[in-house]
Amino acid sequence: MEKNKPQWSSHLSFIIATVGSAVGLGNIWRFPYIMGKNGGAIFLLTYLLLIAFICIIPLICELAIGKIYRTDTINAFKEINPKFKWLGWLCITTVILIPCFYFVVGGWILNYIWIFISNNLPSDFSSYFTSYSSQIFMPCFLTFVFLIMTASFPYRGVNKGIEKANNIMMPLFALMLIIMAVYALTLPGAKEGLEFMFKPDFSQFSHSMVLTALGQALFTLSIGMGAIITYGSYMKEESHIVKSAYTLIFFDTLIAVIAGVMIFPIVFSFGVTPSAGASLVFIALPEIFTKLPCASFVGLIFFILLFFAAITSGISILETAISAFINNFKISRQKATVLLSIIVAVVSIPATLSFGILDGIKIADKTIFDLLDYVTSNILLPFNTLLICLLSGWCIQSLWKKIFGDNLFGYIFNIILKFIVPIILICVLIAGL
Ligand code: TRP
Repeated sequence: MEKNKPQWSSHLSFIIATVGSAVGLGNIWRFPYIMGKNGGAIFLLTYLLLIAFICIIPLICELAIGKIYRTDTINAFKEINPKFKWLGWLCITTVILIPCFYFVVGGWILNYIWIFISNNLPSDFSSYFTSYSSQIFMPCFLTFVFLIMTASFPYRGVNKGIEKANNIMMPLFALMLIIMAVYALTLPGAKEGLEFMFKPDFSQFSHSMVLTALGQALFTLSIGMGAIITYGSYMKEESHIVKSAYTLIFFDTLIAVIAGVMIFPIVFSFGVTPSAGASLVFIALPEIFTKLPCASFVGLIFFILLFFAAITSGISILETAISAFINNFKISRQKATVLLSIIVAVVSIPATLSFGILDGIKIADKTIFDLLDYVTSNILLPFNTLLICLLSGWCIQSLWKKIFGDNLFGYIFNIILKFIVPIILICVLIAGL
């Protein structure tokens, strides 16, 4: 146990840090490409409905568990019932697997920042990206650099490290995002881009699209592995759980939508198909940037934006495991950070190399990188979220009363938590598998 349980220095810092955790590559890299692949506006609509009515429930539960038990994920589950300590370990295993692919993308971002700073732009980003990501030394090295940069914040502690990083990076992030979005709206494809995002084509509706939207919603809100429990455990007494949850959802969604408003007008202005997939941000967008006036500058701003988003989310991922290591292995914060970084570094090597020399190794037709992404986002996050909901609904005595008081909202919340959300999540899991 850390001697003095750390606490956010203000409610605002808590909100900024949780928004920093939620807003990440999930919003700027994953959300636009998944929306592009799943029909645009109809996906956005489904995603918004799911977030507002389903995902809010586990989010409130994670915050409440953090605030009530005020400890790391493993101990929180142990306190609910010692029989459930393993669920804590399952969450921590998930949290260790996520950075093993997330930080590989962080390494690519560092490389792109460098090529835009040095103004050494390749003539063809598609072959550049393929040849760069298949190298051995540089991608591994930059993954480690990104890991060390991220880990240096939790190493310094909650207030001096995590809070400071978020308080500086998140406002800068918001500012840059808005400037880029306004700029994108002046491009000739703006109208088409906005129509793609906001004019639903109901013929594109499908069952699998709903599932994809749910997976994306959990990932982007950082639900399902105790990250929110950990940040909630540093909450001030006066911070309100439900209001905080809505604030978090509001900002995360707003930023995802602004990211779309920035990306789709650019995409349509240059005739790229919005369904280009995961490479949208690393191949299609830079390709387009080079055709704009002040290409290096626009590209640089964009990748710095992505860097801030990735680092503030990466911090929350690492912190979740670090706080569990501190309490369960009885080691200092610094030792816990170093131990975790070594584990992540080792596992991320095969993930990084799976774009090059290890690309032949496939399990269930997926490379190591894709497998880590798939298993964590599509299996572990929904599965953990299901268990967290069941535990909160059935094993914590009247959690709903502790959150809402004895009133109608509380009753409705309790029914949704106990029955509706678990059933929907089970459907998602079965269909997803
Ligand atoms: N939400 C972040 C994003 O959108 C990623 C992330 C941070 C995350 N912490 C998490 C995902 C915890 C799942 C669980 O990029």
